Amino acid sequence: MKIRALFIGLVAMGLSAAAVAADPLVIKFSHVVANDTPKGKAADKFKELAEKYTKGAVKVEVYPNSTLYKDKEEMEALQLGAVQMLAPSLAKFGPLGVKEFEVFDLPYIFDGYDDLHKVTQGPVGKQLLGKLEARGIKGLAFWDNGFKSLSANTPIKAPEDVKGKKLRVQSSKVLEEQMRALGAIPQVMAFSEVYQALQTGVVDGTENPHSNLYTQKMHEVQKHMTLTDHGYLGYAVITNKKFWDGLPAEVRGQLEQAMKDSTEFANKIAREENDKALEAVRASGKTAIYKPTDAEKMAFKKALVPVHKKMESRIGAETIQSIYKDTGFDPSKL
Ligand code: LMR
Repeated sequence: MKIRALFIGLVAMGLSAAAVAADPLVIKFSHVVANDTPKGKAADKFKELAEKYTKGAVKVEVYPNSTLYKDKEEMEALQLGAVQMLAPSLAKFGPLGVKEFEVFDLPYIFDGYDDLHKVTQGPVGKQLLGKLEARGIKGLAFWDNGFKSLSANTPIKAPEDVKGKKLRVQSSKVLEEQMRALGAIPQVMAFSEVYQALQTGVVDGTENPHSNLYTQKMHEVQKHMTLTDHGYLGYAVITNKKFWDGLPAEVRGQLEQAMKDSTEFANKIAREENDKALEAVRASGKTAIYKPTDAEKMAFKKALVPVHKKMESRIGAETIQSIYKDTGFDPSKL
């Protein structure tokens, strides 16, 4: 490890020579979910590998469960340089002005992880990450989570069953429109506030991959859950571009390797973690889990796929088409 190069780089970044000699470079990685989730485990894996590959010249501090910042604040903190790394869900980039990311929220656009990976591991994914640079943000990787189920305190077998219900969504216009297409009332809310909102009846229900529902104990306050698989929730790992570009090349290379390896890890465990969480919800006996029939699922698709067209002017027809091209999805063939 070329300590001297790191030293010179850090001094160039404005850190005093004494401070650099004494302390490793600290990367604060803030996120909003529990440690025991795909994202939580991947962040911990990145910490382990980053510290190992840099031989301790970099220290990664992971702050899970919104302990440091909530959804909106963490984005601001990254831009201000108060934290160096985040992995917000792809649904949370709209407020930053990168509306194209909401393409990942379009209902039923991915028929499983294989379809998703054609995008996130291909040129379209790369191009989407590149769009963050104009905002001072560097996109490092996509990390998987999973496909969402709908939950509430009453059974959900058809779109009509959520009509008039207040359903919590992330800060995505596509998700708001999706809930409206079901006749529900979308309520945008930070992740850290959802459990209490469900418990107190501020909202009636929500949508989640199973690991998020289970690790936030939402199953304790939701009597019914339906395996609609109606949309995907996953992440972009991001850093402050100025910070990243200012790192000594050797350290940046080591961190890139740590990111590559932790991304492989993240995308390997995501499905399994969600399957395990589903079984844990089932075992808890607190939430009735309903698997819709093919006909019932089709009714959800018919209600939801028109959202693609409706949101075309926001996301951009080109972005939507590029994903259709990758996955072969054809909305006219429902
Ligand atoms: C949510 O707000 O529901 C998710 O984005 C939380 C997360 O980071 O998985």
